[in-house]
Parts: sequence; C-alpha cells; structure tokens
Amino acid sequence: MTTLFIHIQELVQVREPGISYVSGLDMQTLPSLKKAFLLIENEFIKDYGLMDNLSSFEADILVDCTGKLILPSWCDSHTHIVFAGNRESEFADKIKGLTYEEIAQKGGGILNSAKKLQDTSETELYEQSSKRLEEIVQLGTGAVEIKSGYGMETEAEIKMLRVIRKLKENYPISIKATFLGAHAFPQHYVSDKDAYVRLITDEMLPLVHKEDLADFVDVFCEKGYFSTEQTEIILKAAKKYGLIPKIHVNQFYSIGGVAIGVANKALSVDHLEELSDEDVQVLQNSKTMPIALPSCSFYLRIPYTPARKIINAGLPLALASDYNPGSSPSGNMNFVVALACIQMKMTPEEAINAATINGAYAIQLEKQVGSITRGKWANFFITKPIPSYGFIPYAFGSQLIEQVYLKGILIQ
Ligand code: NIG
Ligand code: FE
Repeated sequence: MTTLFIHIQELVQVREPGISYVSGLDMQTLPSLKKAFLLIENEFIKDYGLMDNLSSFEADILVDCTGKLILPSWCDSHTHIVFAGNRESEFADKIKGLTYEEIAQKGGGILNSAKKLQDTSETELYEQSSKRLEEIVQLGTGAVEIKSGYGMETEAEIKMLRVIRKLKENYPISIKATFLGAHAFPQHYVSDKDAYVRLITDEMLPLVHKEDLADFVDVFCEKGYFSTEQTEIILKAAKKYGLIPKIHVNQFYSIGGVAIGVANKALSVDHLEELSDEDVQVLQNSKTMPIALPSCSFYLRIPYTPARKIINAGLPLALASDYNPGSSPSGNMNFVVALACIQMKMTPEEAINAATINGAYAIQLEKQVGSITRGKWANFFITKPIPSYGFIPYAFGSQLIEQVYLKGILIQ
C-alpha cells in the first residue's frame, strides 16, 4: 500500500542514508525541502522530493498537507514510563523547598515508587504504563527507550521488564528496554551496599538474559547512589550478557561516571547537569552520545546540561524526556525541545537534530528512525498549519501536532 503526501510546506530533516548522528557545528544544519512530497510504501519511506519534480500522483491514498510541516517522530532515548501510581504527594514538599535528595531521605523518591510498584500487579502496571505510552505517541514520539529500576528486587524488576516487552509487542512505536536494577539501594541493603550489587550481578542479570528482556544496562552513578567502582562492576557483568551501557551520570556531582561510561563503551551518558572540562575531553575521544534531560532540570530546579559547552567542543548531543514520577513527570518532547532552545540556548536546528537523529543513535535505531530517509520506517508527524519548524519551540505551550504516522500507519 502506498500513501503520497503532497504540497508539504516544509519536509524537515531529510537525509541520505548512512548518517549515524550529527555533532558540533553540523548540528546547526537541519536539511529540509520546501513545497515537497513524501511517498511511503507499507511501513517504509519510499521517496521524497520537491513538488515540482513529482512525476506521478498515483498512490492508494493521497494526503494534502498544504500549510503543514512533516517532521520525523521524536526519538526519546531516556524514559522511565513504566511506573506505578505517581509522586504527586511529594510535589507540595518540593514547592516548600525540599530538594530531591531531602525528599528521598524522608522516605520519598525512588524508594517510594519501588514500594508502589512492588504492590502493583503486572496487569495493572501494564494498564497504567500503556496510557503514558499512548500519550507520548500523540505528542509525536515514535521511538522510545524504557527502563526498569523501580522494582529493586528480582521479581519486581523482571515484572517491569515483562511489561516493557508487552508494550513492545502491542504498540507500533519502536521500544528499547533497559535494565536499571542499580537505581537506588533498598533500605535493607543500606548497611551492605555491595550485597545489593551482587544481587544485581549474580541473580538479576542472569534472569534478564535468560528471558531476553533487555537491550541495554543502566546504573545511577551518583554520590549516595552507586559509586564509580560499583558502576563498573555492574557494567562489566552486564557486558557478558551482551547488554550495552546507557548510564545516569553527573546529575548532581561529577564523580567520574563519564569516564567509566566511556571506558566501558557506553552508548550514552545521560543527565550531565554537572560537567567538568575533563568529562568533555573524555567524551571527545569516544562514540558515546551525551544526553540532556531538560524537563528534569526544569522540574527539580537544578542546572541545565551545558549544551553550548558540549556542542562548541565539537560533540554531539541528544535530548530526551526522562519521563518518570520523581524528576520529570512529563514525556512531552515538544516541551523538551522548547526548553533546550529557551534555557540551554540551543537553536531550533540543534534541538531538532538532538531530539531526532541523535536520539535514534542513542538507542541504536539510527538505521530505522530519526530522519526522513529512503528505506527508514515511515515514523513522522504532520503539524497543524504553522509558519516554520522554529514555531514548535517558540509556541511552547501549544499542541501543534495534527497527525501521527508510525511504521506507515495513521495513529488515531
Ligand atoms: O533520571 N536520577 C535517577 N533517576 C531518575 C529519577 C527517578 C525518580 O526520582 O523516580 C532520573 O531523574
Ligand atoms: Fe532517568
């Protein structure tokens, strides 16, 4: 089946095959075609070009896009959308001035979500999580990474990963799963943290592998959470099972997590609100994607990842939502792109590159999604009539997406 989209005011992020990600100055360029057409066949992009060069209007379905833009779907490379309940009860404490760490010390935080998750059945967890997945699809996200990490005991971690697998099976959005057993220490392991690390390496990882439940491994490498040594032990153990690292580092302190990630060939290092010059140097000699999570900075009132420092050093940068109940209760990538422009001083071109092609690389889907490229999946959204792509971050509070296509299917 073929669908032909005609009179597209601007077809954004059109690229030849073979580009994995864009870095430094190249992030300034967002290739696009004005007055364009796009032809899709079944789940794939077949062709695109200028209307002037369109030789035949023959297609099973014809869609007129006059005044509208088409962009490749957002690639959200870091989320925790499988969780139980919410943490709205901590919201008032946060408003009164308690920090993320203080809320965690009061028994809130990740441990609060873990308790809720352990008490929630797999079916119920699936129901709650699928609503969030459907929500982000309508907001233009076409590929997403989802982490475990609120189980914090073997059975509950496996439950989370099974829910992610079921979401993968039932939805057309592309999903990658990450095992984040090392998210925080359960209360009863606080006096023997290495014992919890052993539980992860000796019990959880073999089971995750046995059921083939994850693509990646993650660790919250941070003061008060997992040390660089513990992080390395977990990454090395996971490597034996073929799990590639994507790790939480430098959210509050720069403790050497970036170097550990790069040394272990991490696909991405995520957060980076605190970033030393040494961290930048380490990243310059790597294929590791830095990921910024601006809605987490917004919600926690912590510094934004220094995007200019990263990009001006010639590095690439990806943007993700970090959708989770504690530090970013939103999976709206349009807002993420707006925050990147407004608060991190990224240009719309840089921010859109970061939220599409670079996000795709950060979940190993750069051959399938992240740009309008012949042979890639037909994952894109059509905007309402708007003047330009810069209008998306500019009009940050508006819902500007009219239609969403995933693998060639119109999502209603
Ligand atoms: O990426 N920092 C660690 N993990 C999440 C927050 C998890 C939570 O607070 O529930 C994050 O910000
Ligand atoms: Fe996170």
